[in-house]
Formats: sequence, C-alpha cells, structure tokens
Amino acid sequence: MVYSQQRSITILMLPWLAHGHISPFLELAKKLTSKRNFHIFICSTPVNLTSTKPKLSPKYSHCIEFVELYLPHDDLPELPPQYHTTNGLPPHLMSTLKRAFDMSSNNFSTILTALKPDLLIYDFL
Ligand SMILES: *[C@@H]1O[C@H](CO)[C@@H](O)[C@H](O)[C@H]1NC(C)=O
Ligand SMILES: *[C@@H]1O[C@H](CO)[C@@H](O)[C@H](O)[C@H]1NC(C)=O
Repeated sequence: MVYSQQRSITILMLPWLAHGHISPFLELAKKLTSKRNFHIFICSTPVNLTSTKPKLSPKYSHCIEFVELYLPHDDLPELPPQYHTTNGLPPHLMSTLKRAFDMSSNNFSTILTALKPDLLIYDFL
C-alpha cells in the first residue's frame, strides 16, 4: 500500500448554530490549516453558511469547506429555515431550535459516514 505524504488530516467541525460559536470555529480552522496540512469541513445550517462563506478569503478554499446540515421542517412548521440559527431567533423558539438540531442527527450521521473525518470537533449538544 502506498501512503501519500500529502495526505491531510480531515476534521469535521460542528459548532452550535450561533454566531458566537461558528466564528471561533472558523478562526480555529484558519489557524489549523495555515500551520499544518489539515482539511476542514465546517458543518452548519444553510442560513448560517450563506453569511459565513463570503467572509472566508479564497486562499482557504482548498482546505476549508462548508457542509450544509438540514434540520427537519415538516415536523416543525414553526421553525422555517431562516430560523435555523440563534441569530434573530424569537426567544420562545430557542428550545425548538435545540430540538430540531437533535432531530437532525440522522442527517448528520449521513455526513459523518460520507466524510469519515479523522477528528470531529463539536461544542454543544
Ligand atoms: C451565521 O453565522 C455567521 C458566522 O458566525 C454569522 O456571521 C451570521 O451572521 C450568521 N447568520 C445568521 C443568519 O444567523
Ligand atoms: C434531513 O435533510 C433533508 C434534506 O436533505 C430534509 O428535508 C429533512 O427534513 C432532514 N430531516 C431531519 C430529520 O432533519
């Protein structure tokens, strides 16, 4: 078996769906990839990623990728996709967002199985 020296360590990051969690993870991802040969996937909901992606300089595009996590919507009509973040979330829907995040575990499993990361970093739930 031939091992490529270029093989990078793959890290999947799953921050809680809040700006104060996603941005430090993004900073950590930048630090890690600038020092070592890491390949990082940051997993979050589309509403969060849409506003996060433009903030990342193109120089990271080969080593930091974004993966969309879809939360259930049919079972939780009170939580439309624009509320799949704590940013601007009406306070009474916070527990619903946590529940939706929990309920998305099957979708997250699919991502985990597909990417087979060497390391998973998460911070909540
Ligand atoms: C999602 O997260 C990013 C990064 O922390 C933040 O800049 C953005 O405002 C958030 N977007 C929404 C809609 O919550
Ligand atoms: C899983 O993801 C699909 C979209 O790929 C979405 O329609 C569905 O609601 C999600 N299910 C859960 C339980 O999060």
